[in-house]
Amino acid sequence: MRLIVVGFGNVGRSLLSVMMEQARDLDERFGVEPKIVAVLDSKGGAVDSKGLNMRELLETDTKEGTVAATPKVGQFGLTPLSVIGDVEADIVLELTPTNPVNGEPGISHIEKAIRNGKHVVTTNKGPPALAMRRLQRMASQNKVLFRFSGTVGGGTPILEFTKKTSEADEVQSLRAILNGTTNYILTQMHDANISMDEALSQAQRLGYAEKDYSLDVNGIDPALKLTIIANYALEREISFKDIRITGIADIRLEDVQNHKRERRKIKLICSIDDELSVAPVPVEAAQPICVDGSLNSVQLRTKYIGETTLVGPGAGGLQTATAILSDLLYIHQTRSQGNEA
Ligand SMILES: NC(=O)c1ccc[n+]([C@@H]2O[C@H](COP(=O)([O-])OP(=O)(O)OC[C@H]3O[C@@H](n4cnc5c(N)ncnc54)[C@H](OP(=O)(O)O)[C@@H]3O)[C@@H](O)[C@H]2O)c1
Repeated sequence: MRLIVVGFGNVGRSLLSVMMEQARDLDERFGVEPKIVAVLDSKGGAVDSKGLNMRELLETDTKEGTVAATPKVGQFGLTPLSVIGDVEADIVLELTPTNPVNGEPGISHIEKAIRNGKHVVTTNKGPPALAMRRLQRMASQNKVLFRFSGTVGGGTPILEFTKKTSEADEVQSLRAILNGTTNYILTQMHDANISMDEALSQAQRLGYAEKDYSLDVNGIDPALKLTIIANYALEREISFKDIRITGIADIRLEDVQNHKRERRKIKLICSIDDELSVAPVPVEAAQPICVDGSLNSVQLRTKYIGETTLVGPGAGGLQTATAILSDLLYIHQTRSQGNEA
C-alpha cells in the first residue's frame, strides 16, 4: 500500500508513529504493509518510490521544522499538486489545515488525487463539509474511494456509529457535543467558577485550543462536523449554510453558575431534527450526552432502539491516526474483495 502524505503536522506525525508501532500487527492480521512514498508540508517534501524511512522523517521534521530537509530525498519547494500527479501511489492522505471558507487547498489536492486514480483519506473537515457530494461523485466516476472518518470525533467512530444505526433504524433526532475546546471552556466555567477568558487561556496552555480559537468559539468547527454527519451518516442533502450557528462568546459565568444550582450544564449542542443548529443550551447534568472536559458525545433518538449515546475523545493526533488506519484498512479490504467505489 503506497501512500502520499500531504500535511505533516500533529496528525501526520502521529500517524507515522502509530504505523511504526503497529507495523507487525497490520502485516500479520491484515496483510497490509504501508509504504510512505512521499510526504509534504508547506515548505516542500520528501519522495522515494522505494519507501521513505519513517523514523528519519520524524527526526528531520523535529530538528529542522520541515521534511524538505530530509537528507538525499528531501526537496524545498516541492508542491502537493505536482507530487500527487507525478508520484505513483495507491492512496493520498490529505492532512492539511481546515479552511471553512472554501476548503482549499484540501479540495484541489483531493480532486487531483481522484483524477489520477488514487484513493483519498482525509481528516481535513473543509472538503467533506463543503463539497462532499461532488467529491463522492468524482470518486465513484474514477473508481476510487473517498474516506474521512477522522473528520468527526477524532478516533471515536461517531460517523460509523450514526450511519450504522440509521441504516437499520430511523434516526428521528441527533444531539451532539462535537467541539472539545468549547466543552473544556464551559466545563471549567462550571466546575472551577472561572471566566471564559481564564478558561480559554488554560485551554491554550494545555494545547486544547488553537492559537486561532475563533472557529471553535464561534461554533464554525462543530457546524462543519454536523454538516458531515448529516450528509454522510444520515444521507440528508444539506449545505453548511443551512445550519443556524450561535457560538459561546456571549455566555457569562453568571449564566453558567445559575444553571449549576439547578443541576444543569450549559453545553454547545449540535442538533438535527426538523432543523439543524449549533447553539449553547442548558442540559440536565445527569444526561449521558452531558460529558465534560474535551470529550465528545453523540446521542441518537431512533424509532426502534430508543435513545443511544456514544462518548469518547473528540480529537488528538494519536486518536485521529487510528481513524486514518481504519479508513486505510477499509480501502484495503474493499480492494481485495474486488469491489471498487
Ligand atoms: N489535531 C487533531 O486532533 C485533529 C483531529 C481531527 C481532525 N483534524 C484535522 O486534520 C487536519 C490536520 O490537523 P493537524 O492537527 O495535523 O494540523 P497541523 O498540525 O496544523 O498540521 C498541518 C500540516 O499541513 C501542512 N500544510 C499547510 N498548508 C499546506 C499546503 N498548502 N501544502 C502542504 N502542506 C501544507 C503544514 O505544514 P507547515 O507546518 O509547514 O505549515 C503542516 O505540516 C486539519 O484539517 C485538522 O482540522 C485534526
